[in-house]
Amino acid sequence: MADYEPLIREETRQRIAVYPGTFDPITMGHLDIIKRALTIFDKVIVAIAKNPGKEPLFSLEERKEMIRACFPASETRVEVDEVSGLLVDYAYRRGARAIVRGLRAVSDFDYEFQLALMNRRIEREVETVFLMTGFRWIFISSSIIKDVARHGGDVGGLVPDHVCERLRERYMREQ
Ligand code: COA
Repeated sequence: MADYEPLIREETRQRIAVYPGTFDPITMGHLDIIKRALTIFDKVIVAIAKNPGKEPLFSLEERKEMIRACFPASETRVEVDEVSGLLVDYAYRRGARAIVRGLRAVSDFDYEFQLALMNRRIEREVETVFLMTGFRWIFISSSIIKDVARHGGDVGGLVPDHVCERLRERYMREQ
């Protein structure tokens, strides 16, 4: 019986995934990925990570708030956190077996392939799982949303309403 113990523990363990990104700001495309991930995993940790190539418009706290506001307080399967240091180390520490990434188009593939292979090289116990972004959101990115909003364009329906409002406020202040 003792031989089966680790297997039993394995089966009853929560399946946790980390969904990392800059989320500056969160879009409907990101939300679509989170909802899909929730059908596979027991818990999804939306982890705001630092991409050295990006200077975010919104502070870490603002980005966290905007993500949290997408879910009712009763949704305990979604956690919002920040990552400093290596993503795979964070995932391992949190007991996550998987890193979830959304694929939009072929253009995402090279970069995602590189990230996934490097992450696996560092930590073999954490897998990368790719989910196809919903067709409606294939052409959006946080940058394109910010660009449209900066020029007064309508981004309604592409980001949650409260994010739309934040973008409007931010760019009105800048004018
Ligand atoms: N729908 C809409 N847009 C999407 C999307 C989806 N499903 N999935 C991705 N995007 C967009 C994002 O909005 C973002 O747009 P932007 O470039 O205009 O901001 C872009 O696609 C990709 O960004 P994102 O998913 O936020 O990832 P990233 O490339 O900014 O971040 C990290 C990559 C944070 C995961 C990576 O840098 C990392 O792991 N950092 C931690 C440190 C580390 O471990 N480094 C070693 C990595 S091997």
